Amino acid sequence: MCGIVGYIGEKEKKHIILQGLKELEYRGYDSAGLAVLKDHKIVHFKAVGKLENLKEKTKNFQSKGFGIAIGHTRWATHGKPTELNAHPHFGEFSYIIHNGIIENFQELKKELTSKGYNFLSQTDSEVIVHLFEENLKNNEPFEAFKKTIQALKGAYAILLISKADEEKIFFAKNLVPLIVGKNDDDEIFFSSSDAPLIGLAKEVIYLNDFDLGYAKKGEIKLLNNSKSKALNYKKLSTSKLSAQKDGYRFFMEKEIYEQSAVTSETLMGRVFKDNIELENINDDFFDGICEIKICACGTSYHAALASSYLFERVSKIKCTVEIASEFRYKDPLLQNDTLFIVISQSGETADTLQALKMAKNAGLKTLAVCNVDNSSIVRISDEILLTRAGMEKGVASTKAFTTQLAVLWMLSLKLGKIKGSLTKQTIEKEIQALLKVPTVLKVDDKIHEKIRRLSKRYLHGHGFFFIGRDLFFPLALEGALKLKEISYLHAEGYPAGEMKHGPIALADSELFTIALMPKTLLYDKVKSNVEELSARDATILALSPLEFDIADDFIKTKGYEHPMLEFFEMSVIIQLLALEISIRLGNDVDMPRNLAKSVTVE
Ligand code: M6R
Repeated sequence: MCGIVGYIGEKEKKHIILQGLKELEYRGYDSAGLAVLKDHKIVHFKAVGKLENLKEKTKNFQSKGFGIAIGHTRWATHGKPTELNAHPHFGEFSYIIHNGIIENFQELKKELTSKGYNFLSQTDSEVIVHLFEENLKNNEPFEAFKKTIQALKGAYAILLISKADEEKIFFAKNLVPLIVGKNDDDEIFFSSSDAPLIGLAKEVIYLNDFDLGYAKKGEIKLLNNSKSKALNYKKLSTSKLSAQKDGYRFFMEKEIYEQSAVTSETLMGRVFKDNIELENINDDFFDGICEIKICACGTSYHAALASSYLFERVSKIKCTVEIASEFRYKDPLLQNDTLFIVISQSGETADTLQALKMAKNAGLKTLAVCNVDNSSIVRISDEILLTRAGMEKGVASTKAFTTQLAVLWMLSLKLGKIKGSLTKQTIEKEIQALLKVPTVLKVDDKIHEKIRRLSKRYLHGHGFFFIGRDLFFPLALEGALKLKEISYLHAEGYPAGEMKHGPIALADSELFTIALMPKTLLYDKVKSNVEELSARDATILALSPLEFDIADDFIKTKGYEHPMLEFFEMSVIIQLLALEISIRLGNDVDMPRNLAKSVTVE
């Protein structure tokens, strides 16, 4: 969590830092801060809340001319979102920004306090700057920085500036992302992700765990585990187009509308008449695989759950799914005939990344379904399937989910073919359906308008139940997650057949039930479950192609002949429902409270 940026050069530093932080605001927006070292002076600013507040505070500040600068946007882990807890943290003459968690900060803080250091914040991060200044007493600055980093346990991307060496930004990375870039003018840039660097840096280095070093005008010094390391530059894309809202009210809305186009990209070059080709993944990668285990978090976990139905039903391979944060501490029994799949939009989710590392260490073959090329998860996995959804900015994940499902459906067909569990005719039929996904995902304006109107009736109540069966149970979970994260209304996803084992006790007219009733999967069973709820006065909003008299509200779907197509169609509907309810409630859809786009802490 948190976003960090850094700059060394002549240009207006405030401007570059604020622009960079704007791109990273999705990573956290409890508070923000920046520091500029120029003409032997360090000036810093901090503000609670969104970046606009920092912008306002710095409006009369100018920082043109050679100097160095660092900036941070925070998602609170240790300590409340206050100005004192905002970064940069400072000592007597040094400033740091940090993304991650320092696990041994209590011990370090105790030691430093006993030596007379005064702590202003409640954060874990502040120990870093005091420890650096303590180490400086007997070491030159880079040595002091190295010693400081060696003493830290945990996850970090750190930038440090100090009057002890006014030309350099010192940096270190472990477990959370940090990128350093340069251009032809000898300017140096740092960032937590590519986006802020587009248009500024020409080439970038994606730092690895335990990399540390310093940068000064025209020079980057890089060490890994104390040894000098070659600078492995990669070219950076120059397109910023994908980062704009294109007239939609929110990025989430834009991203819902983009789903049709981006899934075309996802399928492109991979789907043929009777075959699926998954880039460089050779069929023999799957040799000896008898089981699949998938790990993910949040929406990606829901995609995993949905795909498990496909792997078992279509590919005829046993498939289990685990929440990454649970998996990593349960001492799982892992066998090397298991293919370990991780799913992640960002490729930086700490729990998923750790689960992947565990599987790798246990010798399993690993495959990542991910949206961000060059992300940590992508770099570690044996094989990668990129979802090609483009940058997803809304905290509520939408196009990442549907593109993940498109990839996983392809993979299930590929495996089914390799394992001989699918006939040629079945594969051809499945592929015909798969190719319809971009059409199915096109937002129907009439349906959107209907949802917009309907949403006014769903702004209160004591709870929402999204219910479905089979494949539509994970979709019910996803519907509930979408609604709660952006509307702050309590919602649960539940298997429709399980309501009678407890939750039905909650039923009354203020219990809103969103019933997912596809015609191609267990329609009659779900219908009975919904009737039971209706008989107890629950308010029902049904999504189905088949008319359903007892529903209080009804959204008629098109009635595609394949369950996955019904699934994709209903995915858009539950996303739009959450969007419209959230907008009516006046919430900031793209930046819901307490959340961050990329969860790089556990
Ligand atoms: O980047 P990832 O897919 O690994 O992220 C996992 C979750 O943090 C993410 O899906 C989260 O639940 C979203 N806010 C859901 O909309």
